[in-house]
Amino acid sequence: MALKDLISLNDLTPREVEKIFETTAAIKTSPLDFREALAGRSVALIFEKPSLRTRITFDLGATQMGASCVYLDHQGVRLGERESVKDMALNLERWVDAIVARTYSHETVIELAAHSSVPVINGLSEFTHPCQGLTDYFTLTEKAGPDLRGFHIAYVGDGNNTCHSLIFGAAKLGATISIGTPKGYEPNSEVLKAARRQAKATGAKISVFNDPFEAVKGAHAVYTDVWASMGFEAETERRREIFSSFRVTKKLMSEASRGAFFMHCLPAHRGDEVDAAVIDRKNSIVYDQAENRLHTQKAIMLLLIQATQ
Ligand code: CP
Ligand code: NVA
Repeated sequence: MALKDLISLNDLTPREVEKIFETTAAIKTSPLDFREALAGRSVALIFEKPSLRTRITFDLGATQMGASCVYLDHQGVRLGERESVKDMALNLERWVDAIVARTYSHETVIELAAHSSVPVINGLSEFTHPCQGLTDYFTLTEKAGPDLRGFHIAYVGDGNNTCHSLIFGAAKLGATISIGTPKGYEPNSEVLKAARRQAKATGAKISVFNDPFEAVKGAHAVYTDVWASMGFEAETERRREIFSSFRVTKKLMSEASRGAFFMHCLPAHRGDEVDAAVIDRKNSIVYDQAENRLHTQKAIMLLLIQATQ
């Protein structure tokens, strides 16, 4: 990997995405072959926001490869409050081999990476969630085969961090992505611009609708995420009204291809963005996505730490 950090999926080349998938598959198939891969290394996990999947899978993933983890929550670190983000980076790099950061502001991850000589991995910022996006497309390669060109994923709901990573991923892999959001909640226009630039080389197709039925028409997978992301909790009630016609129901799923997968990064709110009858049915692959966070992030840590040797 030429990259030092993983800040955004958009920073990776299509070949680097492929390399992450190959390494993920090797680790998933034979985890014991990698049990010494990061022996004696250490990883700092800095989380300003809550987490189940990201925290557990980075911690277990590092441990399973022989590394140790130190976890710091917001109370313990107060990024940029107790001391500057720059000083935090310059301290941490003396002790650890990689830093995973889940932050409110995307700028904080960028600043950590700018001042640290060890890899910084974005464990979710308000702008993007690259580890999630990589895992999601890896999961789809398992379900639909390694070549996702022409594979159609529909994302319905808030044009948020998860949505941005899915757009970048589709652009890298030549997939088709259609997004359905209420007016005013579309994905960031700079994300669309960058992805469409990349799409010229990979053949990806990217479209945005304000009608969920238009977005899911013929899709091979339908993806949603919470309507109010972490940091937007105060808007929960207002968003519940605005997004109510964007709930993934059986009726909405029936517009997609026959047997379409249902996807969600989790945590999910049944009855809000998705009905229980959809997330709890056979074609829902949400727990495969959750499992694969472990394997994918092991690959990410391994490739980035090896690259800084
Ligand atoms: N999908 C995801 O990142 O889950 P957590 O917020 O629990 O880490
Ligand atoms: N968009 C959600 C994703 C959680 C994994 C959030 O930022 O809260």
